[in-house]
Order: sequence, then structure tokens, then C-alpha cells
Amino acid sequence: MTGPSALFVPDVRIAADQAAFSELSAAFFIASIEKLKAPLVVLPTGNTPLGMYDVLATQYAGRRDLWDNMRFLALDEYAGLARNDSRLFSGWLCRVFLDRVGIPAANRTFFQSDAANRAQEIVRMETFLNDNGPVDLAVLGLGANGHLGMNEPGSPFDGSTRLITLTPETIKSGAAYWGSEAAVPREAYSLGLGGLLKAKEIMLLVNGAAKAGILAETLNGAVGPAIPATCLRTRGGVRVIADRDAAGKLTP
Ligand code: PGA
Repeated sequence: MTGPSALFVPDVRIAADQAAFSELSAAFFIASIEKLKAPLVVLPTGNTPLGMYDVLATQYAGRRDLWDNMRFLALDEYAGLARNDSRLFSGWLCRVFLDRVGIPAANRTFFQSDAANRAQEIVRMETFLNDNGPVDLAVLGLGANGHLGMNEPGSPFDGSTRLITLTPETIKSGAAYWGSEAAVPREAYSLGLGGLLKAKEIMLLVNGAAKAGILAETLNGAVGPAIPATCLRTRGGVRVIADRDAAGKLTP
């Protein structure tokens, strides 16, 4: 496969420590959405964005102008879990952010993990994106294997919303959250890279030394589906916020 001809260099910001990482991420988040009337925003789960959510929910809690109008669209979700399952990404995001700042229920669009008809669920979410998109701001985490959302290695850069079989590496990462690999669902819904790449702005949040290698590959390695996050170099308007540990293998 030949790579895309024009590549872009993301704007990389390096924070000195976890507190600075959270503050910087929150500041860019606010700057990105505050100029918009009803921004459509995609947000990640995981430990990486927790500090940003804390800053938003504490320092910016009073910004009703932001939270009453922001429209949240889910990035991904495990497939096949019951509505009250504690592993649901939807529940996680409500607890750590959406409920805390009071995003109106009508402005929250989630995958239905327990959808009986999975094909229909995929169409429902892709249709929502097509009808309401493009996304104004996509905030993304970086998987240990370079995934974005649940777009695992091999995911096409023009892919649409779909069901994805999780790789052993992602199942291993998930075990850290749910106690064991057996507790990690094997499949997940995810917005596709194609839809994400149409977002007006993209913020990639990366922290911790364990991500230093994959961040260096994302920014400097070969562009292609083997490392899905390299798709971010096929367009402009991408900001990477890393802490010093995650930036440890970037050449200055
Ligand atoms: P993490 O997940 O925040 O748990 O490292 C990142 C991701 O897989 O997107």
C-alpha cells in the first residue's frame, strides 16, 4: 500500500507533570468549544483524560454557557453489556464528566451496548454522525497498540462506525480496569477513523512512560493502518498533549 502523499505535523505540547497535563488539556478543550454555539464533542474513556475531566468539573463548573449547549457523542463502547453493567463506557463518562458538569440528557448520544440488532445499532450511530456532524472537537486517547477509540491495528483510515474485535493487547489493558482479562468484553463499537478524521479539531491526550514508544511511532513512524493513530498525520488541526514521560522518546 502506498502512503498518503501529503503529511502533516501535529502541534505537540508537552506538560511538565500530571497537573500541568490536566490544566493544559482542559484549557485547550475550553478554547476549542467556547467559540461554538452547540459543539458536537467526542470524548474518551480511560485513565488518561481523568485529570482533564477533574479540572473541567471543578474550575469550569459554572460555565453553564458551555455545558448547557455542548452535544456529546460517544466514541466507543463495549458490545453486549446489560444497561446497568459497571463496565459500560457510557456510565464511566457520566460519572467522571457528563453528570458532574450537567450535560443535558437530551444532548448525550451513546452506543446501546445491549442492542439486540447490532447492525442496526451501527447504522443508527453512523446516521447520527452523518446528520449532526462533522464532530467539532474529538478528544482521543492513544491505545498501547496505537488504537484510537476502538479502531484496532488494521482499521482503515476511511472506516465508518462498526463493531470491532478487540486485540489481546487491548484486552490486557482493559484487565487493569476490570480485574481480569476474562472480565473484558471481546467486542466493542467504535466510531470509525473516517468519521473521526472529519472532526474540525482533534486533541490526542497521552500520558505515562508506557506510552512513550507508541507516541514516538505515532508521530514519526510509517503512516498506515498498522498503527491507526498515524492517521492523525494525514490532516491538519491535530493537537497532541503529552506529559514529559509520554514524550520521553520524541526527538526534541
Ligand atoms: P488509557 O487508554 O487511558 O487507559 O491509557 C487509552 C486508550 O486506549 O485510548
